[in-house]
Formats: sequence, structure tokens, C-alpha cells
Amino acid sequence: MDRINLSDDVSLSQIIYGMWRLTDDSDTSPSYVNQKIEACLEQQITTIDQADIYGGYEAEEVFGTALRQSGYRDTLEIVTKCDIIAPIGRHRDARVKYYDTSREHITQSVEQSLKLMNIDYIDLLLIHRPDPLMDAEQTGAVLDSLVESGKAKHIGVSNFKPHDFALLQSYMHQKLVTNQIEISVLANECFTNGDIAFMQKERLPIMAWSPLAGGRIYDESNQELFAFLNTIANSHNTSPTAIAVAWLLAHPAKIMPVMGTNSVERIKSLSMACNVKLDRQSWFEIYEMANGHEVP
Ligand SMILES: NC(=O)c1ccc[n+]([C@@H]2O[C@H](COP(=O)([O-])OP(=O)(O)OC[C@H]3O[C@@H](n4cnc5c(N)ncnc54)[C@H](OP(=O)(O)O)[C@@H]3O)[C@@H](O)[C@H]2O)c1
Repeated sequence: MDRINLSDDVSLSQIIYGMWRLTDDSDTSPSYVNQKIEACLEQQITTIDQADIYGGYEAEEVFGTALRQSGYRDTLEIVTKCDIIAPIGRHRDARVKYYDTSREHITQSVEQSLKLMNIDYIDLLLIHRPDPLMDAEQTGAVLDSLVESGKAKHIGVSNFKPHDFALLQSYMHQKLVTNQIEISVLANECFTNGDIAFMQKERLPIMAWSPLAGGRIYDESNQELFAFLNTIANSHNTSPTAIAVAWLLAHPAKIMPVMGTNSVERIKSLSMACNVKLDRQSWFEIYEMANGHEVP
């Protein structure tokens, strides 16, 4: 498993395991959550992606309870996010879904994440969504202070456009280290709309959420694409899932797919994608099949 450096002392596994769906599983017991983590560790997948809001603000606690029992904290890098407030769980009294990048909210959210996950630092804290009311001077200052106090080792963003990224960075001393955006064979606009190019210009790696399009590549409506992924998989002696992920890994931008399956069996084969090297023509065959037309 390749490692992607965020700094001299923190690197992430190129394939990351995401816990958005953790509490959708019928089994959320610590021993079962630890089985999932063990299935990751067996493949050198050491990075876990969380967010305060996952599982209606409960997924961090489910994960934290498992961590306390297994003691795996020091073998993992933990990513979490803040700024989305939805009227559920501990924010059930909110009148509306909204974003909050204020000093007070970020500080409280981080304290809560640390407590729920039973950890004393976050390896990478992301601002989950760009907030139209962000006061970049205030947000930048609180994010810098979280690194200075050691509560977060690194800061990044998610779903930011290049201008959102540049604005926040302009008010920070610490370097933003990544942007987590949606990328898959079916969500591939970022390859041409400047989102990926901007990060490459900044020499920064990118995290890709929903790399299997949240499971839509298996839907009947995408049968033709799936059959094609399967044909390519047969020629590489691997699975269509591995080909869909290898398609992201083939890009030179250092894309880190954040995988979300709840199945321990499927987790066990996530790293198969790392053994596939897609050539340029296969990459374009998949791209054109996904878009339904040839490149101009
Ligand atoms: N930053 C953001 O705004 C944002 C947004 C969304 C997600 N994320 C992050 O990205 C992570 C991954 O997102 P995701 O879960 O949508 O990713 P994904 O890996 O694209 O999709 C996972 C879904 O695909 C299904 N699936 C996987 N393999 C399958 C197979 N062989 N056959 C049928 N179904 C299959 C899974 O079902 P099974 O569980 O049954 O395998 C699951 O429902 C999340 O956990 C979260 O950490 C971030």
C-alpha cells in the first residue's frame, strides 16, 4: 500500500476507509467494528475517515468505543470533519440545516470529536463543506490554533472549489494539506473543471469520496459500464470494483480513494486495486463509456 505524505511526520495510506455508513450496519458492536479495522490493517489501510455528523453525530462514538477496546489508535491516522449542522442528534433543535465555521462551533465540535473517539489529537481535521458565511480570518485563526495546541496535526477541506481553498489558505499560517471531493467513474467532472488541476498546481494530494459512486456503479442503470469494467477486470484477473478504484489511482494527482463498504468481506479486498496498472487507452475506454461519448 503506497503512503501519501502530508508532512515529514504524517502520511496516510493511499486507500482510506470511510465510516459514513458505519451506523447503517445492523452490527455496530465494538468487536465487529474492530473486525472491520483489522481487515483494513491487514492490507496496510491505516487511515480512517470520519465526520462529526456521520450516523446522526453518533458514528464517532461507535468508532471510539471500539478503539478503546482494541487499542488501535496509535496504528491509525484519524481524519474527521466539522461545520455541518443538521437538525438531528445533538443538533436536533436546529431550525434548519446549515454550516458553521465560527470559532465557537469549530472549537466545540473538535472537543466533542476528541471526546467521542477517546483520542487526544486528530491527525487531519477537514472543514466539511464551504460555508457561505465563513469569516475566513476567524476560521483560519481557529484552525491555526488547533494545530498549535496539538489537537489537530493537519488541516484540510472538503468539497471546496479552488477559490474557497485559496480564500481560507490566505488567512492561515498552517498549510491546508488536502481537499476531499467526490470522484468516481460516474462523477468525473473534476478531471476537467479545474478542481483536480488546482490541487496539482498546489502540489497537494486529493481525497476521493464515494469512489464507487456510492454503489451506483452496480445499479441496473449502469449495467453497460459495469459489464465493461468486468471485461477489463477479467483481463487483469481482478474484480470490476478494483478496476473502478484503479481508474482513480492511475491519475497522476495522488488520489486517495475513501471506500465506504460495510462488508468485512469486501473490505478484505479493497487493496486489490493497488495491483492493477491501467494503461492510457484502457483509462480512456472507461472514461468514454462512463460519459456515453468519445472525447472530442
Ligand atoms: N466529504 C464528503 O462530503 C463525503 C461525502 C460522502 C462520503 N464521504 C466519505 O467517503 C466514504 C465513502 O463513501 P461511500 O460509502 O459513498 O463510498 P463507495 O465506496 O463509493 O460506496 C459504498 C457503497 O457501495 C456499496 N458497494 C460496495 N461494493 C459493492 C459491491 N461489490 N456490490 C454492491 N454494492 C457495493 C456499499 O454497500 P455494502 O456496504 O453493502 O458493501 C456501499 O453502500 C464515506 O464513508 C465517507 O467517509 C465524504
